[in-house]
Amino acid sequence: MSIIIFIMAKSSFGVIFFLLHIIFLSYVFIAHSAPESALVTHLPGFNGTIPSKHYAGYVTVDESHGRNLYYYFVVSESKPFEDPLVLWLNGGPGCSSFDGFIYEHGPFNFEKNGGNLPKLHLNPYSWSKVSNIIYLDSPAGVGFSYSKNESDYQTGDKKTAIDTHTFLLKWFELYPEFLRNPLYLSGESYAGIYVPTLANEIVKGIDAGVKPTLNFKGYMVGNGVTDEVFDGNALVPFTHGMGLISDDLYQEVVSECDGNFYKPLSQSCADKLAKVDEDVSGLNIYDILEPCYHGTTTWKMKVTELLSSSNLRLPSSFLKLGETQRPLPVRTRMFGRAWPLRANVRDGIVPTWPQLLQTIHVACTDDDIATTWLNDKLVRKAIHTAEESVVSSWELCTGKIEYNHDTGSMINYHKNLTSRGYRVLIYSGDHDMCVPYTGSEAWTRSLGYKIIDEWRAWTSNDQVAGFTQGYDKNLTFLTIKGAGHTVPEYKPQESLDFYKRFLNGMPF
Ligand SMILES: *[C@@H]1O[C@H](CO)[C@@H](O)[C@H](O)[C@H]1NC(C)=O
Ligand SMILES: *[C@@H]1O[C@H](CO)[C@@H](O)[C@H](O)[C@H]1NC(C)=O
Ligand SMILES: *[C@@H]1O[C@H](CO)[C@@H](O)[C@H](O)[C@H]1NC(C)=O
Ligand SMILES: *[C@@H]1O[C@H](CO)[C@@H](O)[C@H](O)[C@H]1NC(C)=O
Repeated sequence: MSIIIFIMAKSSFGVIFFLLHIIFLSYVFIAHSAPESALVTHLPGFNGTIPSKHYAGYVTVDESHGRNLYYYFVVSESKPFEDPLVLWLNGGPGCSSFDGFIYEHGPFNFEKNGGNLPKLHLNPYSWSKVSNIIYLDSPAGVGFSYSKNESDYQTGDKKTAIDTHTFLLKWFELYPEFLRNPLYLSGESYAGIYVPTLANEIVKGIDAGVKPTLNFKGYMVGNGVTDEVFDGNALVPFTHGMGLISDDLYQEVVSECDGNFYKPLSQSCADKLAKVDEDVSGLNIYDILEPCYHGTTTWKMKVTELLSSSNLRLPSSFLKLGETQRPLPVRTRMFGRAWPLRANVRDGIVPTWPQLLQTIHVACTDDDIATTWLNDKLVRKAIHTAEESVVSSWELCTGKIEYNHDTGSMINYHKNLTSRGYRVLIYSGDHDMCVPYTGSEAWTRSLGYKIIDEWRAWTSNDQVAGFTQGYDKNLTFLTIKGAGHTVPEYKPQESLDFYKRFLNGMPF
């Protein structure tokens, strides 16, 4: 606003004309800017001043069905109208993007407070330090998003991408002042599917002249699911490189399986893979360095039960993600709805496997803080969620949706999008065994782009923070040393660094 007035004042119009313009501009400004009703004015558990404007509410993506997506929008703490606008998506499928907000890169650190409301402290490494960021619960049925027609809970990649595109178009109608900011997408885990499929919808929309025109620039994916074969083949080299299996077993599995660890074609290969699984089965899949509370017989039995249950509504393609054949406990969690791990595993009893497809908790995770805070009546009111009669409770990851992975491999999406000049960062916490870096490194390399920045260390705070390889067409692969599946949760400072560098187009 002040910039516009300044320009007007410098123009040679008369004073009255100038004042009329101010009145007119004020009108436009009021009529076309962030909805005041969405403004978050206070947050239970937080005593200070919220460091930038926060907005939250719903966008209806389908009027006839009453399908509504919930967003929480954090305005940049730096330069709101210049900094990039980033959409953040957690994966699952079925996990709420409050995972990112609460545990990864949101404006607050949440301190556990017994069973009481957590205490919120400012997060010095919040991604809102350098960007505007929208946390979106997607698809409908996840987090606080819902549909009045429950048939919408049967969904998949294609429908999700279309809905999220609709969300963005309608969101910009509410917040048109952010239309000129560079737009980026980001997400982790199963958002390795959400992000490129959404990018594809956005680009199709831009090509077709859909209004408003999105100023789309690129995207970031962390430990993202990408391709059944690359991701499926990633585990064996990862376990060997990390010292989790012996040289002997590695050599045997390589020769028995002939490099195909994904779909064992012989019994002897399957047997070797089962031994690999057995060796790593006690580890925390989301960060092999972290402790894990699991491994009881009951747990294994429950999982086996789950997998053989006819009630299991997971699509077969999804079941195959990272599969080796024998569903041992650690690996089966890959098929669970909850990929993200709570790093700080605290009072650590494995929750009983709750009612099938109602609330699924995953061992090694602790979502207490998020669950306590987001189910508090005053918090829900403060962040403008639907009434409890509409969305009864918030779950980190829901079993409510039936989700079909219906877009196959993401490799062609990445090829097409990078060829069109969109900037892409594929980053990976190198201690994640859920979507190991070995898969992401291999598929990015497989695109065959010229290496323009050969594998080297990158640094943060004068320390090696990981490794990177830069390719032609603005594609970068980057690891974060010592981080697990949900990178900013483990390495917040390093994460803010690579995030900032990517958004600014700076070298890592
Ligand atoms: C906020 O202030 C109240 C009252 O002064 C106090 O009881 C509470 O502990 C404070 N909370 C935090 C997070 O500092
Ligand atoms: C829900 O949507 C389905 C699919 O569009 C439709 O057939 C059905 O009639 C809708 N149900 C209600 C109650 O509107
Ligand atoms: C990529 O582009 C090619 C050529 O335009 C097209 O045939 C293909 O369908 C595209 N693939 C995806 C996944 O968008
Ligand atoms: C990479 O991105 C920069 C900044 O957006 C752009 O100027 C440049 O043309 C891009 N390079 C390629 C090869 O697409």
